[in-house]
Amino acid sequence: MSLHPGPILGIETSCDETSAAVWADGEIRSNVVASQIALHRQWGGVVPEAAARAHVESVVPVLEAALSEAGLSVGDLKGVAVTNRPGLVGALNVGVTAAKTLASFHGLPICAVHHIEGHLLSAFIEHRELPMPTLALVVSGGHTELVLVRAFGRYEVLGETLDDAAGEAFDKSARLLGLGYPGGRAIQERATGGNPERYRLPQGLEGDTRNFSFSGLKTAVMRLVDLEGDSLDLTDAAASVQHAIVSVLADRTARTAEDLGVRAVALVGGVAANQALRDRLAMRCARLGAAFSVPAMEYCTDNAAMIAFAGAFRLGRGEDDGLEFDVHSNAELPSVTSPASG
Ligand code: KG4
Ligand code: ZN
Repeated sequence: MSLHPGPILGIETSCDETSAAVWADGEIRSNVVASQIALHRQWGGVVPEAAARAHVESVVPVLEAALSEAGLSVGDLKGVAVTNRPGLVGALNVGVTAAKTLASFHGLPICAVHHIEGHLLSAFIEHRELPMPTLALVVSGGHTELVLVRAFGRYEVLGETLDDAAGEAFDKSARLLGLGYPGGRAIQERATGGNPERYRLPQGLEGDTRNFSFSGLKTAVMRLVDLEGDSLDLTDAAASVQHAIVSVLADRTARTAEDLGVRAVALVGGVAANQALRDRLAMRCARLGAAFSVPAMEYCTDNAAMIAFAGAFRLGRGEDDGLEFDVHSNAELPSVTSPASG
């Protein structure tokens, strides 16, 4: 596998971060992120129309900042990579329009990247040596998937959530507990020093499965809030929610790694920022003798560095998607070799 030397501009606008990054000479040279968290906080979640409008406002300044931080100008670029699926259609369209305009003006090859492929490959930006196959747990606000990465571009989805994503479970529980938005970080902070066994919460599917389910947790938290009222200990409740989510993610991933005999496990996506999850999965992998890798924090939450890196891989293989590709709210991972199995 030979990565394109660049410079490649990556663009990401699939949800609530406007991001641009530059890949050049075998490394990420800049990664600029304009977050919309403050905007969406007033509604307690991402409002698609507002997200698209905010992307329109920030996309050009963010592109300029990424180029300038990398010490480059548009004329230096050799390719463009942009997230075109899955995500909010209005939001995706802003990044894709910017990318196509650049590519068409400057006669550059362009690569349409699947957002989850970006998250998967983020594990390799700083750890190119991770042994294949690597088992990756992708956990974000919209996704919870267990994917076997056989090689760059060869992915096998082994398990996934049947309902809410792990990040969604954090966000919804935080809202029910009145802990604010976004919920993952709020729960992690509130859980410090709390007793994770104080409140017993369901961990979703039992038994020998590689899938996940988090909708029962939300219902249980709702019931807990109703039942306990003012006597609810928020610190213990946050610790219990975090424990319920983290333990099922870490344990199921470790068990799958053991079953498959893989030598490396990667934790990627926004929820990979969670310290309890990092610690538990690291401990489980150490016991198995498997390498454990988690990207730097800036490559966990949505970012364009992972999109530029995926672009370096795809453009390096000579792929060029041209200017006709569309955006999609839902899409399978490219080159999936086998369907999800329970
Ligand atoms: O990957 P990401 O930035 O966006 C999506 O593609 O969805 O992930 C955002 C999710 C949110 O649900 C947020 O609550 C969660 O990541 N998150 C965390 C933490 N930081 C962000 N969840 C748990 N613990 C954290 N420290
Ligand atoms: Zn994401």
